[in-house]
Amino acid sequence: MKRFVIAACLSAGFITSVSANPMFESAEEAIEYRKANFQLIRYQIGNMGDMLKGKVPFDAEVFKQRANNVAQLSQMPWEAFIEGSDKGETDALPAIWTNRAEFDGKAKQFAEYAQALAVAAKSGDKDKIAPAFRNWAKGCKDCHKSFKD
Ligand code: HEC
Repeated sequence: MKRFVIAACLSAGFITSVSANPMFESAEEAIEYRKANFQLIRYQIGNMGDMLKGKVPFDAEVFKQRANNVAQLSQMPWEAFIEGSDKGETDALPAIWTNRAEFDGKAKQFAEYAQALAVAAKSGDKDKIAPAFRNWAKGCKDCHKSFKD
């Protein structure tokens, strides 16, 4: 019986219902989680940018791995912007909660550009990779200027 209930929940898309299964026990945890996520993104973009600028040698395999990393990481911080996490050790601006649709739109666009970058990186062709990288990378400042202190 139990097994049946679990199977039914899974097939009904139970897992996508985040609010029914909160991952964070407090606002502090959510803030910690999203900041750690942004730090991981920061390291990936730093190394990828250096490769494209020629500051470090371009290695197509390493670049591809980094692009796969950011394809995952770029969809992860957003669920941690929970109610109440506008206060505490955070630079998140209240505008996120008063202007949620715009914030979510930027987050979604950012994640989509990261997917496109991962696809471009598979080609190993810098002429395809560089513009895909720029599309994704411009999302940082574009979001921070409205939503980060
Ligand atoms: C859709 C909005 C959005 C996008 C896109 C975005 N950020 Fe952020 N970022 C934020 C917000 C909001 C915070 C503040 C989080 C907090 O302090 O709770 C933040 C915080 C950070 C931090 C500080 C984390 C810490 O330890 O305090 C770094 C570093 C960062 N972002 C890097 C990036 C980089 C690099 C990109 C692009 C590759 C990026 N972000 C894209 C919204 C965004």
